[in-house]
Amino acid sequence: MSLKPNPQIKIKHTQIFINNEWHNSASGKVFPVLNPATAEKICDVQEGDKADAEKAIQAAKKAFQIGSTWRTMDASERGRLLYKFGDLMEQNHEYLANLQSLENGKTFKDSCGDVIFAIRTIRYFAGCADKIHGKTIPGDGDTFTYTRLEPVGVCGLIIPWNFPVLLFCNKFGPAIAAGNTIVLKPAEQTPLTSIYLASLVLEAGFPPGVVNVVPGYGPTAGGALTASHDVDKVSFTGSTEVGKLIQQAAGQSNTKRITLEMGGKSPLVICNDVDVDEAVVIAHNALFMNHGQCCCAGSRTFVHEDIYDEFVKKSTALAMKRVVGDPFDDKTVQGPQIDDEQFAKIFDLIESGKKEGAKLECGGGRHGSKGYFVQPTVFSNVQDHMRIAKEEIFGPVMQIFKFKTLDEAIERSNNTEYGLAAGIITKDINKAILYSNAVRAGTIWVNCFFSGSAQTPFGGYKMSGQGREFGTDALHEYCEIKTVTIKIPQKNS
Ligand code: NAI
Ligand code: MG
Repeated sequence: MSLKPNPQIKIKHTQIFINNEWHNSASGKVFPVLNPATAEKICDVQEGDKADAEKAIQAAKKAFQIGSTWRTMDASERGRLLYKFGDLMEQNHEYLANLQSLENGKTFKDSCGDVIFAIRTIRYFAGCADKIHGKTIPGDGDTFTYTRLEPVGVCGLIIPWNFPVLLFCNKFGPAIAAGNTIVLKPAEQTPLTSIYLASLVLEAGFPPGVVNVVPGYGPTAGGALTASHDVDKVSFTGSTEVGKLIQQAAGQSNTKRITLEMGGKSPLVICNDVDVDEAVVIAHNALFMNHGQCCCAGSRTFVHEDIYDEFVKKSTALAMKRVVGDPFDDKTVQGPQIDDEQFAKIFDLIESGKKEGAKLECGGGRHGSKGYFVQPTVFSNVQDHMRIAKEEIFGPVMQIFKFKTLDEAIERSNNTEYGLAAGIITKDINKAILYSNAVRAGTIWVNCFFSGSAQTPFGGYKMSGQGREFGTDALHEYCEIKTVTIKIPQKNS
């Protein structure tokens, strides 16, 4: 099937979705959604606030009541609804990909790929819905015990803007498969895809109140979810800064369950036994994918001293070849950054890199004069104490470091508060295993980067997160374990 880029698509929905109905905001406020390629307004969206979030929470709470349609629905039927939703996404693949490129700025090609991954994720969790099993446990004494994996309850799902469709699906999928009800708050930069996905929820036939989508800002709409005593769990993806606030809000309200997927500064170690050309391509994609806006980007490239100069030269040449521009143009590989805040953050860090003595090999400036485009940038001679070595840049800015021994690379890889991912490129299996075991990160890639699928758990150690997404591990994040112990009768009386 050939999908066509079209930045002129019609925006079909801009309202708040509660109880299977479209609503305007209680306050009457709207907020603008900007096209990051031009900084011009695409449309206004209803601005959900505390009152709207509260209404959505109450709808989700009602849908979760004992005896409700949703609570009495067969698990296989929940799976069928998810399959139906996945089919609708597939039928509207082209529209969804265009909508995502429009609000996010990623290339249409990348958007199409994201949607495929998102559909696979939905189908994976659809298949899981009727396979959520407890255990039968032989305890001591005259009893037997079984466990039930029950839904947690009302789940607040707070997502960022870097993979709007995929992040909707990788939280919605397991939450719904496990039988929860949800209130999802999309990022303020990219609400349109989530609102459109809500329309597919309606079309798929989910009962009212099971899925609610409240577009709005973090501290207001998002804050209402994290502070609520009626929200049983929050799953968040975004900055470590906000993740900490969510943890606090959970503690100050009802100690709701949380899963957090936050920042990273992931190392990628290139040993001296590699094919340099291949390693350069892996490291390049590990950083520049999605314009550098990936939580698990390989943003600390450690290169063995024997191949360092060649590696820097070739990485710079490759970065300079990147075609930056219109996300809807087939030749483009890099669109704009998401907004002015990210744009300013990236340049602040680039300036700090220059000031602290890293060598700017290429880029460092703005691309064009409209929208939020950043030139592909490469720094060499990066030292561990520099800000660009420690802080998440979330932009197309590569940092290349030099190392001598694997022990040193391991120590420096671990010298971070983050622990989302790490990678090693080597032909030596022993080095790969030593490194994989020694580095404290949730994902290790050997001779690849970013490989992942709906089946494989993903999440962070240390300040990169708590809990896991994808795979059956994600499903269990949306379940409580109930232990039922029954006395075994000793005789028939
Ligand atoms: P953010 O963490 O502020 O926003 C992510 C989501 O959280 C959005 O939906 C936002 O509205 C919501 N939010 C913000 N404040 C909130 C609050 N007080 N209570 C509840 N929800 C709240 O991230 P932002 O500002 O977009 O980006 C800042 C940095 O975070 C980036 O430069 C990057 O370093 C990192 N980031 C990491 C992501 C990841 O995939 N782990 C995704 C996006 C950003
Ligand atoms: Mg923020």
